[in-house]
Amino acid sequence: MAGLAVNVDHVATLRQARGSRYPEPVAAAILVELGGADGVVVHLREDRRHIQDRDVRMIREIVSTKMIFEMAATPEMIGIASEIKPALVTLVPEKREELTTEGGMDLTRPGKAVSKAVAKLKGHGIPVSLFIDPDINQVNLAKKAGADIIEIHTGAFCDAPTPEKRNAAFSEILAAAKRAKALNMGVNAGHGLCYQTVPWFKGVSEIDEFSIGHSIISRAVLVGLERAVREMMELVKGL
Ligand code: PXP
Repeated sequence: MAGLAVNVDHVATLRQARGSRYPEPVAAAILVELGGADGVVVHLREDRRHIQDRDVRMIREIVSTKMIFEMAATPEMIGIASEIKPALVTLVPEKREELTTEGGMDLTRPGKAVSKAVAKLKGHGIPVSLFIDPDINQVNLAKKAGADIIEIHTGAFCDAPTPEKRNAAFSEILAAAKRAKALNMGVNAGHGLCYQTVPWFKGVSEIDEFSIGHSIISRAVLVGLERAVREMMELVKGL
């Protein structure tokens, strides 16, 4: 049975939009665990656009399932990870101008930056996952770089404009997952998954855990809105 790790970045997005004290991602992390999730994910971006350093430290402290730390492979982030020691680091590519993580890491690029980052993190006792596109060559290179786990980018599947393209993208995810399993790696999957796309994975045994954020936080806004209005109505009517 696959696990679910819930990304609470967008609770922070809402807070940062107003510079207010609420909603607190740490409170969301507690609710995520109460809901039965297997883990809480945060991505501390270089530009600190949503999750802040204090959120990372507080969430690390209160989470009793596991805290997954998404980060770019930079010296600053490696320093933070080595201090807080999350249950897992997922290395992601990061571009300042992107709206969200737009693609997987390109492990075909020359240089040893990724394998060096993996070795450093593992030296601190932290397992490492690499966020990659569903591509067999990238899976092979992730193994070569020393990763314990891959996280397959499901964005192309979720955003596919036609049923044919969606089927093709799904086949690529399955092939990448099977290859990773053959290499004895853990397999996570995420990005853009929602209530319509997750059911596609019924019967797929190669995915160990899904990492989902935006659709869950978005749904929480809607399923929680009626109650939130009622609570404010009570206050207003009691004036
Ligand atoms: N996995 C990774 C590596 C991500 O960067 C993100 C987005 O922060 C997710 C999963 C979750 O994506 P979404 O918010 O679209 O569910």
